[in-house]
Amino acid sequence: MAAGARKPWSTAERARAREILKTETYSVTADILNREFWQDAQIRTKLSVRGQVLHNHIDRPAEIQGDGPKEKTEFAEEGNYATAELKTLKNATTLNDLLEACEVDLDIWEVDKWVANKWPVTMKFGAKGDEEAVQIQQYQIKAWLIRKVPIKHEWPVVQPVKLSRPLTPRFKPARQGHPPTVLIIPDSQNGYWRDMRTGYLKPMHDRRAWDLVLQVAHRIKPDRIVLLGDMLDLSEWTDKFVKSPEFYFTTQVALKELFWWLTQLADTGAQIDYLEGNHENRLWRAIVKNMIAGYQLNPANQPDAPAAMSVENLLSLKDLGIQYHKPYPGAHIWLNDNLRVSHGDVARKRSGATVKEMLQDARNSEVAAHSHRLEMAGITVHPHKGPRTYVVYNLGTLARQEQGVVPSSGGRQNWQQGFGTGWYQIGGDHLFEIYPHPIYGGQIMYQGCLLKARQNLSQLAAEATGVAELVKHEVTE
Ligand SMILES: [Fe+2]
Ligand SMILES: [Fe+2]
Repeated sequence: MAAGARKPWSTAERARAREILKTETYSVTADILNREFWQDAQIRTKLSVRGQVLHNHIDRPAEIQGDGPKEKTEFAEEGNYATAELKTLKNATTLNDLLEACEVDLDIWEVDKWVANKWPVTMKFGAKGDEEAVQIQQYQIKAWLIRKVPIKHEWPVVQPVKLSRPLTPRFKPARQGHPPTVLIIPDSQNGYWRDMRTGYLKPMHDRRAWDLVLQVAHRIKPDRIVLLGDMLDLSEWTDKFVKSPEFYFTTQVALKELFWWLTQLADTGAQIDYLEGNHENRLWRAIVKNMIAGYQLNPANQPDAPAAMSVENLLSLKDLGIQYHKPYPGAHIWLNDNLRVSHGDVARKRSGATVKEMLQDARNSEVAAHSHRLEMAGITVHPHKGPRTYVVYNLGTLARQEQGVVPSSGGRQNWQQGFGTGWYQIGGDHLFEIYPHPIYGGQIMYQGCLLKARQNLSQLAAEATGVAELVKHEVTE
């Protein structure tokens, strides 16, 4: 407890105070409590201002006193998963405190994991102009639960999307005498919140950012495009957060729209690699956890086809000529001997901290995303053969940055939108050059040119996918 802070009164102290107050004034009660609890220095401190403080501790609302009906419990069930949460001013730090408060039936649920936090809350009490600041501990315990005997799982309606037209010719060779060009696209988190009133599907991905990437793709016609993963948010498939009903049945539309963007990328003729991120990996986890019998199922007459419930199949990546690399976090490609590209599995809170950590283990240069931040840092090591320099990049995100739009554990996200372009040498010294391109509210300054995203993107997406709910419209009563 910080210096000068006052601990909350115990139940015994408050009970005794209430009893005395039935017949005595605050001042007399304070004297009696001081005598009876004299060995407790905290009590003497508390009563040093006598009546006013005593009044605050006895008569203030129950929810801030720490006993009585003051704690907040929340139990949210979602199929085979649930979360239980207790927020209280009582000294509660054990799993049992939580399970008792939320009345969790341990015959049905088992605890997957749990956390306990506490933090000081300062509150003011007393008459205006004569307030006293009292510091109180707020406790929070949260547990994630799994059903011991799973119930039948309701699968979202999801079908593969299909290509309805031929793509432009593919795999153009690298320009003679030039190293190959690459376009690297980070986490777009394609997905939606459904507005329960209007049916509107509010995107988690920023179509303006997607559009700018596409404009650059058609401008530079890269030899290679790398999708860094988390291109689908798959909020409906999480086993980490409780699924909000707003996510239900959004996967099919997310597949359709992402497919539309991928088709436009494939039209550049580039070789495209798609690296699995932790969000695509949710699909695999959901199947393994909930319906192992469906794992790796594919049609009887197509034994080499990707599994029915896999990202490759659902996005028809084969038809688009896109190679999918899995599983996360191991999936990666080498652009040349020095430069490795993967989704990344490090995400630190502060700007620069992710690449700083990645550099600790660097034995080559790296491009990643996952942290949703634009970062770049280098390190020079000195082995026997002389100095070697490694550079590590994080290329940001194409997800929307507004608070709460993409489900995550934080509030106001320190995320930067961006992507990367560059060149890499095949052979020679395997040199490379990667440029991070920051996106600012639907605009970029690309090599001296101001590029702006198109205005009617939701309309275009709705027409391409046949999903009218992608366009926002108000309900007229
Ligand atoms: Fe991500
Ligand atoms: Fe990620």
